[in-house]
Amino acid sequence: MRLQDKVAVVTGGANGIGKATVRALAAEGAAVVIADFDRQRSAQLVEELGGAGKTVVYEFCDLTDSGSVKQMIEATIARFGRVDILANIAGGSGLSPFYKTPAGQAQKWTEDIPEAEWDNTIAINLTAPFYTLKHALPYMKKAGRGTIVNFSSVGADHGFADSSFAYAAYAAAKAGIIGFTHQLARELGPFGITANCVSPGAVTSERMQERWEKDPRWREESDRTLRDVVPLRRRASTDEVAACVVFLASADASYVSGITLDVNGGRYMR
Ligand SMILES: NC(=O)c1ccc[n+]([C@@H]2O[C@H](COP(=O)([O-])OP(=O)(O)OC[C@H]3O[C@@H](n4cnc5c(N)ncnc54)[C@H](O)[C@@H]3O)[C@@H](O)[C@H]2O)c1
Repeated sequence: MRLQDKVAVVTGGANGIGKATVRALAAEGAAVVIADFDRQRSAQLVEELGGAGKTVVYEFCDLTDSGSVKQMIEATIARFGRVDILANIAGGSGLSPFYKTPAGQAQKWTEDIPEAEWDNTIAINLTAPFYTLKHALPYMKKAGRGTIVNFSSVGADHGFADSSFAYAAYAAAKAGIIGFTHQLARELGPFGITANCVSPGAVTSERMQERWEKDPRWREESDRTLRDVVPLRRRASTDEVAACVVFLASADASYVSGITLDVNGGRYMR
């Protein structure tokens, strides 16, 4: 097992890519802390993996609240003594009715985005990773080792073709996290800590499946677009993305720092 005796914190670990990552890290022997505000799904995952003999615990955390993040990190240190792997996965482009235009149209241009929506999108995608790092880095630096895996998106590099959600704020936040990761790699290298980004394209997650069930036409349109732009002609599974996090967190990637690992089926090539 590649991550025996490592301690990992996974933000957004209750659902989607985060959940697949919790499973994948635990399968490689890591003790995993799920940092999420979804108590129910987190408890289910703890029960499932605990029953399979894995060390997986839940720490409630609102990632947009620095005090709450501090408590989560301190609880992790109190329980395990260290953080070796910090996977900042929680994020998203906004999915509630709040994100529809007042007229209920699908399109959402930059000038339509309410200020609060901009702030919320930046808060979860860019500021939340800053909070986890602010509170975990003193411990990681002291230990003289560690790996950080941040999450970007294919939209950071070439924008999104449709504007049905708050993509301007999302693209800005996801581009910001790449710059943030570069700075982290520079600052933290001398402390033996690596920092990298995973940048997925389209991923089939439970959340996406729920959305498609409500709106099958949207799925058909999205499938058609993907066939045109993704050489592999399909979405990624959450497990395929989680495997990249495990790679970056493992000794296999010990000399990899400051990169953005594209997991997009060839949709965007650097
Ligand atoms: N799914 C995709 O197609 C896709 C594509 C590109 C990039 N990404 C990125 O990958 C990451 C994971 O995406 P996903 O689709 O698996 O997400 P998801 O919506 O399925 O899960 C997000 C998790 O974060 C948690 N969360 C959200 N806000 C929180 C807060 N304030 N405090 C605590 N927990 C909070 C949620 O409870 C949930 O468990 C995100 O950063 C997303 O932007 C996803």
